[in-house]
Amino acid sequence: MKQALAIELEKLASFSDSEAPAVTRVVFSDADLRARAWLKGLFREAGLEVREDAVGNTFARWVGSGEGVVGTGSHIDAIPNSGRFDGTVGVLGGLEAIRSLRRAAFQPRRSIELLMFTSEEPTRFGIGCLGSRLLSGSLDPSRADALQDSDGATLASVRAAAGFSGPLNSVQLAAGYYSAFLELHIEQGPLLEKASNPIGIVENIAAPASLRISIAGQGGHAGAVLMPQRHDAFLGACEIALGVERAAVGTGAIDTVATTGVCRVFPGAVNSIPSAVTMEIDVRDIEPDRRDKVLRAIEECCALAAARRGLAVEATVLNADPPAACDPRVMGALEHACVSLDLGYQRMISRAYHDSLFMARIAPSAMVFIPCKGGVSHRPDEFSSIEDIANGVEVLAGALAELAG
Ligand code: GLV
Ligand code: MN
Ligand code: MN
Repeated sequence: MKQALAIELEKLASFSDSEAPAVTRVVFSDADLRARAWLKGLFREAGLEVREDAVGNTFARWVGSGEGVVGTGSHIDAIPNSGRFDGTVGVLGGLEAIRSLRRAAFQPRRSIELLMFTSEEPTRFGIGCLGSRLLSGSLDPSRADALQDSDGATLASVRAAAGFSGPLNSVQLAAGYYSAFLELHIEQGPLLEKASNPIGIVENIAAPASLRISIAGQGGHAGAVLMPQRHDAFLGACEIALGVERAAVGTGAIDTVATTGVCRVFPGAVNSIPSAVTMEIDVRDIEPDRRDKVLRAIEECCALAAARRGLAVEATVLNADPPAACDPRVMGALEHACVSLDLGYQRMISRAYHDSLFMARIAPSAMVFIPCKGGVSHRPDEFSSIEDIANGVEVLAGALAELAG
């Protein structure tokens, strides 16, 4: 099983818009669509029934003998210049868990459904977990369809071009659709490796928020316009980016983090004063109230920069989500699997967000983490050993068997 899974992870990494070892697979890009087609083939080869919804969430079902469905899965989209394990381990590992249960002649009473979520990453439309937000009824379908990428293309047009043209209001799952949901994922932090623990069982997922900031200034000739006459949009952006750092550090809590990860400068010519900037800012905390104070501080910083520099600054909160708590029964199933496999584990918080943040709103959910080298993620050198991945798959399989048996 280890060898096949390692080969499949490598193959999936080859559907990419950057040179290996980096992976870039933005939702509905050609690389994403080719990866989806290949994966759907694997799901069918494993004897699973495949269906897709209007936003491209993909479901692959092992039909059980009775009522009810247990879900597992993750995402395959990858942010620019990232690694090969984030999300993919939960999709290919979920598939391998199902195949291993089949090999062991396990007969599920509840169906087991593997889910490949659309656009967990916010790269293209500015908001993460698009697929799971819609599945859980957490995002208004018409707002979703109106979201735009950096070329101004709407989700409605981009998904239609990718072959997903049904109404988005058909995506939300019926209440109680899943009796349990499990996601296998790399930790994206250093704790398991430091503790030499092969497994983490997630108890809570931290609260994420993101802001899009548009700054309009005045362009002009870099030689001819004198410094006192300038309204340089990029300099406003610099003040705001430093304000973002100040706001996060200023809470005094190590759990508050804030990042300015996108800063697009227009027109982007060395001899032209920047006339417009778009920034995207990510703010997270395990305490949502403290996170929200940081959002307010950033908004104040925007107003100050606008006034000081004669700029028009507009800040829009794209999302500000509450944290999620995992379900004791589903965590218990993971714990039982660890005990029976004699694998050490610890309970932990997920500081990264995941589709489980939204699945937890509609299904009793939990996550299983495996170590990644140095805690590194969202970088080309992201790495989890096949042994660690296989441990995660076995724990997932054990928990699925308990929950679906
Ligand atoms: C997920 O990719 C996150 O940014 O936490
Ligand atoms: Mn990610
Ligand atoms: Mn992920």
